[in-house]
Amino acid sequence: MNEIKLSKRLKAVADYVDNGARLADIGSDHAYLPTYLMQKAVINFAVAGEVVKGPFEIAKNHVSEAYLSDRIQVRLANGLGAIENTDKIDTIVIAGMGGILISEILEAGKEKLSHVKRLILQPNNHEESLRQWLVNHQFVIKNEEILLEAGKFYEIIVAEPLSKLMTEPSAKPSVSLSADSMASASRIELSLNDLTFGPFLSKEKSIIFQQKWQKELNTLNKIIARLPEEQVEKRQEVLNQIARIEEVLR
Ligand SMILES: C[S@@+](CC[C@H](N)C(=O)[O-])C[C@H]1O[C@@H](n2cnc3c(N)ncnc32)[C@H](O)[C@@H]1O
Repeated sequence: MNEIKLSKRLKAVADYVDNGARLADIGSDHAYLPTYLMQKAVINFAVAGEVVKGPFEIAKNHVSEAYLSDRIQVRLANGLGAIENTDKIDTIVIAGMGGILISEILEAGKEKLSHVKRLILQPNNHEESLRQWLVNHQFVIKNEEILLEAGKFYEIIVAEPLSKLMTEPSAKPSVSLSADSMASASRIELSLNDLTFGPFLSKEKSIIFQQKWQKELNTLNKIIARLPEEQVEKRQEVLNQIARIEEVLR
C-alpha cells in the first residue's frame, strides 16, 4: 500500500500524537490515522475501533494491505469498548464526530480512561459540551487548534488528566486553576466564554477563529432580524449570544 496522505484536518490531529504513544483511534472509519502514524514510525501499536461493520471491514483491509495487521488491531466495537486493559493505551483520538457523541463515548467508557495520558478530540460541533465534560472529569485542556478545510471549520482539543499534571512537576497546566494551588484543585473551572470559544482559541484569536465566529454572528443577526418582537425570551437569548461573540471578537 502507498503511503497514506492525510487530509489537513486529520494531519493536524495526528500531529498531537507523541512518539511511541500507544494509540486508540475510536471511530477510525478507514484506519488512515493509525496507518499514517505507523508508516511515519511515530507509533508502533494502535487499536482502530469502529462500530459499523462496513467501515470496519474497509479498515481491516487497509491495515492488511499496509502489512500492519500485527501492530494495528482493528476491532468492531462501540466506543471505548474497543480498548482492552492489556493494550496499555495511553493516547485516545476521537475525531470527526459531534461533540455530544464524543462526550457520550467518553462517559460510557470512562473506566478505560484511568491510565490514559492524552485525549486528542476533534468535535465537528458542540465543542462547549465536550469542554464541559472534560472539566467535569478532571481533564485539563492543554492545547487547541482551529482550522478551515473545504469550507468547514474544525476544532481540535487536546486534554490531559489533572492527575498526570499533578505528578509531573515540570508540567504546568496551561489553563489557570480556580483553586489557589494545583494540589488542592480537584476540578478546573472554565468560564462560560472559555467553554464556548475555547480557552486557547479565544486568547489566540487567529484569523480562522475570527472567521468562524464572524460567520456565526452573521447567522445570529439574520435570525434576530426575523424574530418577532413578542418572542421576548428567544430574542433575549439570541441577543446575549450576539453580545458574547461581539465581545470575544473585539
Ligand atoms: C465521520 S467518521 C470520522 C472518521 C475519522 N475518525 C476521521 O476523523 O476522519 C466517524 C466514524 O465514527 C464511527 N462511529 C460513530 N460512533 C461510534 C462509536 N460509538 N464507536 C465507534 N465508532 C463510532 C462511524 O461509524 C464513522 O466511521
